[in-house]
Amino acid sequence: MRAPLGHSGVKLKRRQVLGGLCAFSVGYSKLATSQEPGSSEPPTEGDHIVFAYGEHAGKPIAPDDLAMGVEQIFAFPQDPASKVVRNGTRLNQLIVVRLPVEGMSEATLNRSADGVVAYSGVCSHTGCDVTDWNEEFVRFQCPCHESQFDPNDAARVVGGPAPWPLAAVPLKISDGLVAVAGGFEGRVGFMQPGQDPFSSFGQ
Ligand code: FES
Repeated sequence: MRAPLGHSGVKLKRRQVLGGLCAFSVGYSKLATSQEPGSSEPPTEGDHIVFAYGEHAGKPIAPDDLAMGVEQIFAFPQDPASKVVRNGTRLNQLIVVRLPVEGMSEATLNRSADGVVAYSGVCSHTGCDVTDWNEEFVRFQCPCHESQFDPNDAARVVGGPAPWPLAAVPLKISDGLVAVAGGFEGRVGFMQPGQDPFSSFGQ
């Protein structure tokens, strides 16, 4: 087994988060890093999952790149044919973690591949990047208002003001790599000013 790649400088640093939030204040599209055709399409079946940042940015992720039970890395889908990374919209930013399958709910187990699960990396509260990790309780945590999400249970909200779970991306293994098995499941995005969090989907 090769050494995991996913946790050596790939995860967003808080400094980058704050920079992201400044950009966010003038419109999240400012964070777009690609204008190539297809880069703003949502995750599509067969897409590879690639590292978003750091020295391995753009590299397809294999399960063994991710240490078991360790904090999330940021990723984007990539069209394996055109090699276009779908980072044309921040809403395609994913957080990916590998966990023991024994602890997963049925829904999460069904979406996982070799213990790897992927969710939207954009907090459903007001849209911060979900950068933090609570190792003790195995939860994603948002640095802005400390919402917490359970990666073992469909990113269910287990703390803080987030109004709904992080959307999930079902995964599969294809040629040894983590790949998308279907589009987002759940509500992508974040609560808009004045929005009823219990209203029907739509941002
Ligand atoms: S934006 Fe994440 S908790 Fe407020």
